[in-house]
Amino acid sequence: MIKFSTKNAGLLEGELEKIQPQVEAAYNTLMNRSGAGAEMLGWLNLANEYDKEEFARLKSAAKKIQSDSDVLVSIGIGGSYLGARAGIEFVFGPFANQLAKDRDGVEVYFAGSNISSSYVQNIFDIIGDRDFSVNVISKSGTTTEPAVAFRLFKEKLEEKYGKEAAKDRIYCTTDGNKGALHDMAIEEGYERFVVPDATGGRFSCLTAVGLLPMAAAGMDLDEIMRGLSDATEKYNNPDFMTNDVMKYAACRTIMLSRGKVIEILANYEPSLTMFGEWYKQLFAESEGKEHKGIFPVSANFSTDLHSIGQFIQDGARNMFETVIWVDKPQTDLTVPNDEANVDGLNFASGKTMQFMNQQAMRGTMLAHVDGGTPNLTVNLDELSSYTFGELVYFFWKVLALSAYMLGVNPFDQPGVEAYKKNMFALLGKPGFEDMKADLEARL
Ligand code: PA5
Repeated sequence: MIKFSTKNAGLLEGELEKIQPQVEAAYNTLMNRSGAGAEMLGWLNLANEYDKEEFARLKSAAKKIQSDSDVLVSIGIGGSYLGARAGIEFVFGPFANQLAKDRDGVEVYFAGSNISSSYVQNIFDIIGDRDFSVNVISKSGTTTEPAVAFRLFKEKLEEKYGKEAAKDRIYCTTDGNKGALHDMAIEEGYERFVVPDATGGRFSCLTAVGLLPMAAAGMDLDEIMRGLSDATEKYNNPDFMTNDVMKYAACRTIMLSRGKVIEILANYEPSLTMFGEWYKQLFAESEGKEHKGIFPVSANFSTDLHSIGQFIQDGARNMFETVIWVDKPQTDLTVPNDEANVDGLNFASGKTMQFMNQQAMRGTMLAHVDGGTPNLTVNLDELSSYTFGELVYFFWKVLALSAYMLGVNPFDQPGVEAYKKNMFALLGKPGFEDMKADLEARL
């Protein structure tokens, strides 16, 4: 269950009510599917519209991977990577792979999200002579980073199992009708899963894009979809005062109007580090357009209180924080007593780590608020497959409303093309020859 609070946001009397008509207009635009990018709203009612036949096939594929592999290499970048990794660490923690043998799940390594040779070699070394499968994920089917990684891992599979048997270990998640990966999957006979047409990368992690790696790692797909379904129903509510998604979007707009151009999504559980990465992509790629937007940053506390904490407390006053707090940790260890008390820590003896973490969170929040950084809070009862489905939908809808209030199309990403064109020209890709000389002269 998600609870949202504005208690420490420093809102003025009547401020929320004043912005209410704007949020309601954005809500209606979204729900009536009349805004910019409305053809990309496949996520909005995904809970009721997903392909049940494919869902059953995903579960079977995950079972097969668990039975014939120790490792799954999930190849993708951006929206074709972040959600699955966020989900796996959300539920199983930052050591999900080291602890995989204690549950029904394989180790999942993510490749194709960079162009580092050392990174790929490290995964080869980790796999060693163990059995593995590959899930290559690309909606367009033409993204360079995953395409390079796929060639490398396909070669390894073919070396180990032979060309024919390797095919049985390759799962492709891509467009249902077109693209290089789609064509290759048909030609080679790889098992195929579809990224639905109306679903952009950063809204795709609860489709086959994220579901196959998450299921292979041991997450419960039915629970994810139950969380998604409950959130869809809960936030399908036009009443501003009882809809937290609308209130959060309102607060973001208010913060921006006060010059708070940076939002820090802070957590106190390392299991949420990758969720922060997922959030950054969702908001940056959706809102950062036409020289507008709130720059999303993520922070892991208390770790980062000893690095960027200084700036949040005392630096330029252009930011606000949204703190995710989790009520029930996976375990709760108690600080032992020590008669000698040389470290002076006996004031904490007998207290649980969760209790101490919570006091760190409470104290930090008030310190930051006193320093001029307003705080919003998102409270979760636990980190489970269910809560993951719920939280993903919560942030999707907050983002969509915020972006409509900002006046941008949340569902495109024209700015991502600029680096790709330069890279293609420098690499000598056919069609980009004219740009190369000019770029080389500038470097
Ligand atoms: O959100 C997005 O649309 C992007 O981050 C894409 O997911 C990313 O660029 C990868 O694209 P593709 O799945 O086509 O390889």
